[in-house]
Amino acid sequence: MQTFEQLPNRKQTRSVKWDMTEKLFGSKDVQPMWVADMDLEIAKPIKEALINRVDHGVFGYTFTDQQLNLTIAEWLYQRHGWKINPDWIVYSPGVLTTIHMAVITQTVPDDKIVIQTPVYPPFHSIVKSHQRQLIENPLIYQDGKYKIDFEDLEQSFASGAKAMILCSPHNPVGRVWSKDELLQISQLAEKYNVLIISDEIHADLIYKESTHIPISSLNEQINDQTITCFSPTKTFNLAGLQVSYAIIPNESLRLKINNAFKQYGISEPNTLGFTALEAAYQHGTKWLEQLIQLLHQNRELVERSFRNRSEITPIHAQGTYLIWLDCTEMKLEHEALVSFMAKEAKIGLNDGISFGANGKGFMRMNIASPTSYVEAGVQKIIAALDRLAN
Ligand SMILES: Cc1ncc(COP(=O)(O)O)c(C=O)c1O
Repeated sequence: MQTFEQLPNRKQTRSVKWDMTEKLFGSKDVQPMWVADMDLEIAKPIKEALINRVDHGVFGYTFTDQQLNLTIAEWLYQRHGWKINPDWIVYSPGVLTTIHMAVITQTVPDDKIVIQTPVYPPFHSIVKSHQRQLIENPLIYQDGKYKIDFEDLEQSFASGAKAMILCSPHNPVGRVWSKDELLQISQLAEKYNVLIISDEIHADLIYKESTHIPISSLNEQINDQTITCFSPTKTFNLAGLQVSYAIIPNESLRLKINNAFKQYGISEPNTLGFTALEAAYQHGTKWLEQLIQLLHQNRELVERSFRNRSEITPIHAQGTYLIWLDCTEMKLEHEALVSFMAKEAKIGLNDGISFGANGKGFMRMNIASPTSYVEAGVQKIIAALDRLAN
């Protein structure tokens, strides 16, 4: 039984989250709760598979095969009820790499690409880096909940958008889109012939009351115009191993993406990455179930801790290990809020505004750590709020 009580010492491992804290937040004693990886040791079977592979001692060129494809297909069927054809799989070192390739191959400069803000910052930068037009379909924030503005989405599509980068489940607001919402998106995408690039990297991190549905699994039409990106790296804390895959049912889309990977020299898979992927999907389910229990506990802790604090409201996450904190009632200028978290509370959070202008007054907190660590972080914020009030 995995208890996740131990905080691993990640310092001096070239960890972005831990070893860049001083540079980014200005002080060594800031507690990092930002970048999306976990302060938790990986599942034993994955560690063992990696150790065995390292023990072998030779790391020449390797390839992916049908056995690995079948493992992925089985995972998607067991976890998400989606029956894929293993031939639809395209391997990639990262979800972001695939999104870049999708943008490069399926759109041309000046094309409009829709994102739903506030959203994961690289969605903004990828679109801009290829000189495409960024079209925002801001989420509606009402009564502490986020929903999609479908009227605005239809207008964006009708204005000639070529693609939409969907974040499903959504980082940072934690929404797991319902079947009805996904159907509405897919109907609009079909009507206006918009390619859906669906980033489902958080698909396995779902709280018990919600169910993740891959948008591509809804019907044949949307299946044909969607590129879905998955990865075991968020689910199993393997981001440094750089392994992911896309499901691209449409043959001509798949061919173009595959060719782009070759053209840019990204065709060799990472041996340790797919060793970990295979072990995770074949033997990681129990660990994942225990992780979800921990996330439930941590989500409840954060919500309970702020229940009597009118200044900060955690948005109830349905998925992901990221909690979007509404700090607007602190009534601080955004810069002062960012400085309050780093300098007064001494907590390293993601700045809400990096997710879009409507992230002003918000911060993102990562709760994928031992509960005692999350509790210490939350208590530091509460103590700093008390000092501010006095
Ligand atoms: C929504 C989303 N997509 C993609 C990534 C990064 O994926 P990768 O490391 O596979 O490029 C992240 C990481 O936080 C994420 O939250």
